[in-house]
This record gives sequence, C-alpha cells and structure tokens, in this order.
Amino acid sequence: MSGIVGYIGRHSAQSILLDCLKKLDYRGYDSAGIAVSDLKKIDIRREKGRVEDLEASLQLEPIRPGCLGIGHTRWASHGTPTVSNSHPLSDEEGRFYVVHNGIIENYQQLKKFLISEGHHFQTDTDTEVIPHLLAHFDTGNFEETVRKVIPQLKGAFALALMSTAHPNQIIAVSYDNPLIIGFGQGEAYLSSDIPALLPYTKETYPIKNGEIAILTQTNVEVKTLAGEKIVPEKVTIRWNHDELSLQTYEHFMLKEITEQPEAIKRTLKGRLIESGVAIPEVEAFLEERKLSRFEKITIVGSGTSHHSGMIGKKILETMLDIPVEAAISSEFSFEHGHLNDQQLVIALSQSGETADTISALKEAKKYGAPTIAITNYRKSTLARKSDCLVYTHAGPELAVPATKAYTAQITALILLSIVLTEKTNGPGRKMVPVLLDALHSLADDVEKCLIMTQDAIDQFAQVTNDQEHLFLIGRGLDYVLALEGALKLQEVAYLHADAYAAGEMKHGTMALITPGIPVIALATQQHLRDKAINNIKEIKARDAYVVGITTTGDDEVSAVVDEVLYIPEAHPFLMPILAAIPLQLLAYYAGKVRGYNVDRPRNLAKSLTVE
Ligand code: AGP
Ligand code: GLU
Repeated sequence: MSGIVGYIGRHSAQSILLDCLKKLDYRGYDSAGIAVSDLKKIDIRREKGRVEDLEASLQLEPIRPGCLGIGHTRWASHGTPTVSNSHPLSDEEGRFYVVHNGIIENYQQLKKFLISEGHHFQTDTDTEVIPHLLAHFDTGNFEETVRKVIPQLKGAFALALMSTAHPNQIIAVSYDNPLIIGFGQGEAYLSSDIPALLPYTKETYPIKNGEIAILTQTNVEVKTLAGEKIVPEKVTIRWNHDELSLQTYEHFMLKEITEQPEAIKRTLKGRLIESGVAIPEVEAFLEERKLSRFEKITIVGSGTSHHSGMIGKKILETMLDIPVEAAISSEFSFEHGHLNDQQLVIALSQSGETADTISALKEAKKYGAPTIAITNYRKSTLARKSDCLVYTHAGPELAVPATKAYTAQITALILLSIVLTEKTNGPGRKMVPVLLDALHSLADDVEKCLIMTQDAIDQFAQVTNDQEHLFLIGRGLDYVLALEGALKLQEVAYLHADAYAAGEMKHGTMALITPGIPVIALATQQHLRDKAINNIKEIKARDAYVVGITTTGDDEVSAVVDEVLYIPEAHPFLMPILAAIPLQLLAYYAGKVRGYNVDRPRNLAKSLTVE
C-alpha cells in the first residue's frame, strides 16, 4: 500500500504535503513524490527512497511554490521502486497527474486498448493507465472526465488527481481503499490515514466507496459517481496528538511495546466488569441473528494477526468445544471448506485495511456466514463490512512491526470467547471465574514482564549479533508464540528465525542444530512443561545455545538451559501475551544492534492494501 496526501488552501502546499507524507511513510517508503500547482502551472518532483530524500532534492533544487497539491509515498506493487515508476504519474502530454493507492486489476487490458489508440507508456506500473485514460476521455470538464473513467477501473484504489487545464482543483476518489478529507479554516486536506491530518484538523470525512470529492480553494463537494451531491457526515477524530509522537523514545516500536499495559487496560475497560464480561455490540448481534450455537468458527488474519487468530483458535476450541480453524486470509479467500450461515467468521486486523483479510471477509459473507471483525480502526473497511465490530483500543500503532496491536487482539479474543461461551452455554463456563481473575491482573503482569526482561534481552540481542540463524521452539500456545517471535525477528532484525513445535525438531530440523546456534525455548504452558523440558534437553545435547522463557522460579527449566528469562505466571490463555514481551524486545534490540531502521523494515509496509 502507499500513502496519499493532498492540500488546498492559502499556505505553501509543499511543506504541508511533505509533513503529511512523513506521517504516512509507514504505508510505504520505496519512493516519494509531489505535484504542486500555483493556480497556473503544475510542477512535480519525485525521488527514490523516503520522503526525506524527496525533501533533500527539493531543497537542492526547489520547484515553483503553490497553494495546492498532491503527494505520494509508495510501496511498489507493480514495477520496481525507480524514479520513473514513482507517483505522481502523468500521461505523455502531462495533462493529468495521479497519485494512487491500491491496484488496478484490469490495467493490462486497459493498457492494450490505450496503446492501440496511440498512447505511449513510460512506466511498469498499473497506475499509469489512469492519466492516459483521463487524457483519452477528456471532455474538457475535469469532474465529468473523472466520472467517465472511474467505472472503467477494476480493483481497489484511492486516487488524488490534478489536471493541467484546471490547476485550481483536486479530485479525490475512493474505492475499497481509504481516503480521508480533513476540513480546515478555508483549507482542506486529503490523507490515506488519520495521523497525517491530526496536526491540522480533527474534522474529517472518510470518502465512501464510489464517491468522488472535488476540492477547490473555496469549497469541498462530495458526489456520487452519477453526480448526485452528498452532504458529508463529518467525523471528529478523538486521537491525541501525543500518541502520534515519539515523546522520549528513540523508536515507535519500543514506545508501542512499552505502551502495552495501557493498551490492554483500554481494551478491557467497560468490558471486564464486576459481574463478568460485557460486549453489548456482540450480544446485540447474537440476539438479532438468533445465534445460540455455531457449527464452526473460522478466524482469518494475516501475519501477526494470523498468529493472534491461532491463539484464539486454541482458546475458543477449549471454551466452546466446537471446531475452530485459524486460516491465513490470503489462503482462505480462494480455498476453504464448507461455509454456511451457522458458521461464524472472525476477521482480525490491526489496520482493518489488509486486502487479504477484506477478501476473506467478503468470501465468508458470500456464503451468508455471520462475521465479527476485531480491528484497531473503527472506520476501517473491515469494520464497515463486517456484521459486528469488536474494537481494540490499542491506540495508533505506527511502527511497521505489530506489538501492542497483537496483545490487544488476544485480549479482545479472550473477552469475545467469554461472551460466546456464556451465550452458547459452552463447556468453558466453569473456567470463566478463574479467567476473569487473571484478566483483572493482566495489565500489571505485562508491566512486570517489561521490567523483568528488558535488560536481559538487550544483552541477549548483542549475543545474536553475529548469528544468521536462530530457532524458536514451544508446544501448544508456546508454539504459536514461537511463530510470532520468529516473524518479529525476521521483520526487524533480518535474521533467519524459524519456529517449530518443540516435538517436531527430531523429525528433521534437528539436523540444522550445530554447536552454539541460538535457540529460544518457550516453556510457559504448565501442562506441556515436562515434554518441553525433554525437547530442550535433546537440543542441548547437540550443544545449541538455549535461552529458556518460563515462569518465575521454574528451576527445572533453568537447569537445562544456558540462560533463563522469567516472566510472571498467569492463566495459560494469557501466557502468549506475557511471553510476547521478551520476544518483541529481543527483535527490537537485535534490529537496533544491527543498525536497522526497526520502525520501517525493508520491503514492508504497515498494512498491505493489495492482495
Ligand atoms: C506484523 O509485525 C506485520 N507487520 C504484519 O504481519 C501484519 O501483522 C499483517 O500485515 C497484518 O496487518 P493487519 O493486522 O493490519 O491486518
Ligand atoms: N499499484 C501502485 C504502484 O505500484 C500503488 C501501490 C500501492 O498502493 O500498494 O505504484
């Protein structure tokens, strides 16, 4: 996915566009570009790399100042991250300029048609068909031309468009990809996401699917594609500006790891009540649909959200005693078992904008399956498309590696599992009182974990500095956690980290264990602990360097490993939250010690709005 911004008003567009782009660069940082109009002429500049590279280029060689413009920070989906593939893209005569987030799925056919009509293409992107189409179907009326072209595009896209013949206008379009209008005093903004808008305005309107917005110096008009006027229902942003700044931290990743106790408290607030758990939106949804039991539950998600889903699967299966599947969104969208209206589908996503998960949700709805979304963005596409929303209150997560969103998701899943158990009279009812007690001290336990593990992990990260490979092992929920720990280390420290179910090592992977190779062994699940200890011994017998993560005072684990990290003991369902802390910290320090940009890992973006 990429980040789109726009500005129209009385101030210098360039500095506002650059500032907004910097706040969106978690969405992509392959290249950046802006187009600025002084009401007479449009000037553009594009650079490979981050927004800072674009800024440096503009300082060296300024473009004409202007008071309106559009900007882009790219995560390349089609075509390498070169200057020529960077946005804004235009037709060969420079009549239209386009910044685009998403994919035009039918771009090959459109390109073929345009080439047959004499157009010449300069880039490998899907996006380039848009300015060519605009030029081809130009009626002389910018808005009318846009309305003619948009229905020809297939896929998911958000666009900000400028026309050389109408240098006083910006037109914005959203179709299954977010684009938000920010309303200022005599000025207006466009942004793919809220953080960029916050320093300027809290009054917003997320453009709905198939709507177009026409921004001029004096007015913002929202219309349907057919040209019918819409009165935009403004949404006031409640986010706090502090949440979006680094404050005293060096990186957002460390800040967000540290914020976890608060994020968990907020997710529990109002839901974990004296008499149990209340999620009124879920209760109302179950009643309205008359759902008192389910044949099966499927949890879909990608990356870290899939790992939360795997944890949810184990918890829900135990509590409800029905089949629960945790599916990878991108797989589920195309291949899945039988689905019907008696099967619940839960979609997990921090951003609520992950294209794979949106497709999985759409697929579930096709079969009439009731759907619940667990997301960290109330107004996200997933939140809007699902039948019921359970909002995680993690607060804005700006580092590309997911940390507080993951633990907030598991917290929300546990709350949801309690509500579903009560409503469907699941066998887990007898476990609820103990689980409730544990939830009451969860945030404190996470706080303790942060204090107990931070220094030791920093030191261990130094040990991994000259390593290329690392293994993580665990059983049951610890295995899922090993998968999440491995993903974090790959993403942040570019380390070849691999996770295995501890009992599986002897079936092949043990051949890779050589003296000194670092292995992180998780042993936090009491009922699986003895077996886990045996597996650790097997690995120690091959001279690996083993760091054990276990509960405070477990001497048997500490006796068989080289280093031990203790975390507080809690309910087994909550251990994946507690044990995540040292693994997140390890990834952070390992990435930092290697000198990588931990907040912006190479080749990645915060949420992927392409399939
Ligand atoms: C996690 O560290 C990753 N950046 C990634 O796996 C992420 O969890 C995934 O892309 C899903 O994002 P979502 O939760 O916003 O849907
Ligand atoms: N498809 C466009 C490109 O490759 C935009 C990518 C995106 O937003 O994901 O440039």
